[in-house]
Amino acid sequence: MSHSYYDQVKEATDYISALIDTPPSIAIVLGTGLGNLTEDIDIIKRFKYEDIPHFPPATVKGHAGELIYGEMGGKKVIAQSGRYHYYEGYDMKEVTLPIRVFKMLGVERLLIASATGGIHEDYEAGDITVVNDHINLHHENPLNGPNDERFGPRFPDMSDAYDPELIALCHEIAIDQGVKLHDSVYGGLPGPNLETKAEYNFLHIIGATVVGMSTVPEIIVARHMGLSSCVLTAVTNKCYPISAIREVTHEEVIEVAAKVEQKITGIVKELINRL
Ligand code: HPA
Repeated sequence: MSHSYYDQVKEATDYISALIDTPPSIAIVLGTGLGNLTEDIDIIKRFKYEDIPHFPPATVKGHAGELIYGEMGGKKVIAQSGRYHYYEGYDMKEVTLPIRVFKMLGVERLLIASATGGIHEDYEAGDITVVNDHINLHHENPLNGPNDERFGPRFPDMSDAYDPELIALCHEIAIDQGVKLHDSVYGGLPGPNLETKAEYNFLHIIGATVVGMSTVPEIIVARHMGLSSCVLTAVTNKCYPISAIREVTHEEVIEVAAKVEQKITGIVKELINRL
């Protein structure tokens, strides 16, 4: 095999490296309804997925699919606009390819924002959370198959997969900004359907407090490579207690995420300032 996965990651990295002066130190991944943060980046260069070697084409309607390299808070950042979701048909190696490229580019911190359902009685639609831990309920793992030691160990430790220092910083910033920020445990499912009432109840019982269809594969890979990570989520729909569950559409998820976007953006921007 001439082209190992490692070689693919390296070729994508080399392509980007050759076109930028200074490596980014922070990567930002933006989920459903939370893409506007890129407007705060002083853009230096855009990389369309179709131009980056081995990047799968973006499929979702209206999503350009690009990496945005620029400056924010005096730091070089790279943002992923248009995420690869497993439910779109990408495999886990494709979903997590950008994370591997970020790390190989020199990124030290990974910041992710995503939409979630809230499965804690105190979480309301429109609240935001910082993830402390996760429960992986995906049936496919991005680390499945032979391990390439150049990326990381066969059996990566998953304690503190969410950098405690960054969580503490998020709380400090939220207090300064007068924003309520919950700690959360992210239950990761492949989707694309939302959960049944019994499934929301199950997630609550096993200790998850938010649920979403992304993020967990990315965090596993980030941890595999020793990349420090921080995840903020928008609670777009209340899913606990069961009596509070209402039918929800994807449009509503996007709408609520857009409404709380400013709270998340405010924290992320200040986090980058302080790093
Ligand atoms: N379930 C899974 N993913 C989600 C939800 C949900 O209720 N809301 C937003 N993303």
